[in-house]
Amino acid sequence: MTPKRKPVVGGNWKMHLTLAEAQELGSEVRNRLNSYAAVQTLVFPPFPFLHAVGQRLQDSAIGLGAQDLHVEKKGAFTGAVSAEMLVSVGCKWVLVGHSERRHVFGDGDDLVANKLRVALAAGLKPVLCIGERLQERQAGDTFAVNRRQLRAALHGLSASDVQDLVVAYEPVWAIGTGLVATPEQAQEVHADVRSAIGELLGIAFATQVRIQYGGSVKPETAAGLFGKADVDGLLVGGASLKAEEFAAIVRARNA
Ligand code: 13P
Repeated sequence: MTPKRKPVVGGNWKMHLTLAEAQELGSEVRNRLNSYAAVQTLVFPPFPFLHAVGQRLQDSAIGLGAQDLHVEKKGAFTGAVSAEMLVSVGCKWVLVGHSERRHVFGDGDDLVANKLRVALAAGLKPVLCIGERLQERQAGDTFAVNRRQLRAALHGLSASDVQDLVVAYEPVWAIGTGLVATPEQAQEVHADVRSAIGELLGIAFATQVRIQYGGSVKPETAAGLFGKADVDGLLVGGASLKAEEFAAIVRARNA
């Protein structure tokens, strides 16, 4: 029997837009995708716009998420944002371990693991991002790097701890570069990621966990990626900033 995994597509707006633009984009995403029940759609606006975008998405099927969180609950941590703050502005989801957090801000495997636990404890649904760098792929270490990142993040957790987990495979060499992984490249890593999750958390969980691909996804490449057995969704950066392109990507699921 083919497992039923509802596809999930996220728009990671990164550090883009003004408040007015973010509100407009939130409304446009809602107008275009609220009734598209074939796919679960999520948006990840910058921190200052979360509440306002959340208001535009109120009572809709579009999920609101943050791009990062801090591990402490509160205190003297200038510039940081806690899980409780995210929940209080209406977030249900959060990205954990995005490659830009890992490679621009220096979030290591241990910190990513800690953030994952803090998100879960606050009731946020995590999208755990993993992915190899170009030199790691060229050295033949793709599977090993992704397995290491997964193992570090999931260590000590059980399937029931991470029920709503989504994993995003985002090869660093494909992010913001225009170099999209081929559907075959994505599929072979997704299949290995699923098998690694099976070893860590059990086959039953691995069969139902959703694994997104991210990295230079465009409307033209979305259907091919969706066509692969272990690609359960997409995490979109640049193309999620235009409602029309983002909607075309989400709708590519049934194309
Ligand atoms: P791009 O789609 O801009 O390559 O970004 C991918 C990404 O990092 C999504 O989280």
